[in-house]
Amino acid sequence: MCGIVGYIGERQAKPILLNCLARLEYRGYDSCGIAVAGGKLQVHKDAVRVGVLKEKLPRRLEGKIGIGHTRWATHGGPTKANAHPHCDCTGKITVVHNGIIYNFQQLHQQLIEEGHTFTSETDTEVIPHLIEKYFTGDLEEAVARALAEMEGSYAIAVLMEGRPELIAARKDSPLIIGIGDGENFIASDVPAVLDHTSRVVYLEDGDIAVVRKEGFQVKRKGKVVDRQPHQVTWSVGDAQKGGYEHFMLKEIHEQPKVIRDTIRAYLTADEADSNRDIFTEGGEREILILACGTSYHAALVGKYVLEQLFRVPVRTEIASEFGFLGQTSARSQAVVITQSGETADALKAIKKLRSEGCPVTVITNVIGSSATRLADQVLCTQAGPEISVAATKSYTAQLMALYWMALPLARIDLRRKDSLIAELRQLPGRVQRILDDEEKIAQHAAQIAKYDHVFFIGRGINYPVALEGALKLKEISYIHAEGYAAGELKHGPFALLSSEAPVVAIVAPDNTYDAMLTSIKEVKARNSPVLALVEEGDEVIEEVADSVIVVPKVEPLFSPVVNTVVLQLLAYYAAKERGCPIDFPRNLAKSVTVE
Ligand code: G6P
Repeated sequence: MCGIVGYIGERQAKPILLNCLARLEYRGYDSCGIAVAGGKLQVHKDAVRVGVLKEKLPRRLEGKIGIGHTRWATHGGPTKANAHPHCDCTGKITVVHNGIIYNFQQLHQQLIEEGHTFTSETDTEVIPHLIEKYFTGDLEEAVARALAEMEGSYAIAVLMEGRPELIAARKDSPLIIGIGDGENFIASDVPAVLDHTSRVVYLEDGDIAVVRKEGFQVKRKGKVVDRQPHQVTWSVGDAQKGGYEHFMLKEIHEQPKVIRDTIRAYLTADEADSNRDIFTEGGEREILILACGTSYHAALVGKYVLEQLFRVPVRTEIASEFGFLGQTSARSQAVVITQSGETADALKAIKKLRSEGCPVTVITNVIGSSATRLADQVLCTQAGPEISVAATKSYTAQLMALYWMALPLARIDLRRKDSLIAELRQLPGRVQRILDDEEKIAQHAAQIAKYDHVFFIGRGINYPVALEGALKLKEISYIHAEGYAAGELKHGPFALLSSEAPVVAIVAPDNTYDAMLTSIKEVKARNSPVLALVEEGDEVIEEVADSVIVVPKVEPLFSPVVNTVVLQLLAYYAAKERGCPIDFPRNLAKSVTVE
């Protein structure tokens, strides 16, 4: 998704802006640009990667104030003309923007009638023209008047030739100020500024900030408001590859630590008790879990966990569908899972839930994200920054958060509860064993990489794992993959089974085991090669499947953790075998801030 950066200080802006933009590349983009004001304002942009733009820039592009952008096309294709920054008619006011302006057609038409000329197909371009229209000497005031005309979502940074300030503003799209020493930054995302500062201010919806090199001031509806800085605990190292070939592999390998950190944070006796108020006790109730993408698959696992341990009905909904179908009642309590805390569909669902009086707990990996500000309660996962577009460790951390939510209130006997907690503590070691054996998974992946279609099947708590395995494989290796509840395969997909369409079967030693064995036999009878994930010690499935990946023994309730790690590695090595750009798959974005 689009990324914003801005710099004002004593250093040359160009290299700093390029460095900050490079740190945002993981979000996914198709074009980029920067504007730097020395004496004169200069804008350079193109439909290229940041590294290529850097090569194309004039060596003498000097100035100590500037803004930059990575664009993910929404209005108008990925072209040089549509790339940001965008300028007004005079070429002195320039803007970078994340979000969508819903009434841009009308504003565009009105501005044309007033004599403005446009050079792009973007909605963004109306912003510098509106600022130009209202500018009478006070840039902040002109921006405020322009924003008042706009409907939709935005995070913007504005730079005007000859002015010693940047203006930043947000509504429904994230924006932070990074606080340096005699210099300040603007960014849509914390990792952008981590090389320079770890002190950040999270702007809130409706905020307009004037950022100067020696400080900043935030106003809301014309009145100065106090926005306290936060110390970010993520380090630059957390957001770098640390010797791994890809962020995805690094993040897969961080999962034992993520689980350990989560257990440490959540499972002290006091904290286990302290989440009693996440769900109100007593009476009839219904838990609703909403999310998108991989987080939705965590939600599906959460449904099994909460229903089994907590014994209340749990409904899961895809956040983007909730607006069309979603119903709540006085009994509903919602959990929204979003690793970024910025997914537009998830935010819209939270707003709808809150407007209907439904209490919302958000599970997110980003403190200070928009979702945390909208929620009644926040449960922060302990995954650290996730850079790879394909979610891995953030998903595992979400599962841990769901286990933690369910365990204290579990309606099970104390001995079972203690044994589950003891099992949870064993999980980091179990996951580590999978990672230590990744070479074997890479060999299986090399086989999978030869096919164009792959099915994943599971049952019970491992049905969502099949969905997640298929999603991981398709998003990074571009192999067509589908996840199915094993019993559903015979209701259609059987027509596609052949020696050219392998099936990955996730088998757990729970009440689904016999049915999975039957499903594998049915698949084999249709000539599809079967790769089965089986628990160590299982000899029955090995007899039937073509090949197996042996997974460490865990409590079945926690099997989604170990099985998913195996499927993450399978997808990773299949994508590597095919030479795909693993961390930045085509057309995808890390944080989807548009509907
Ligand atoms: C994008 C990402 C996925 C992620 C999904 C939901 O599609 O590429 O990895 O699962 O958004 O994101 P969220 O931040 O709401 O969990």
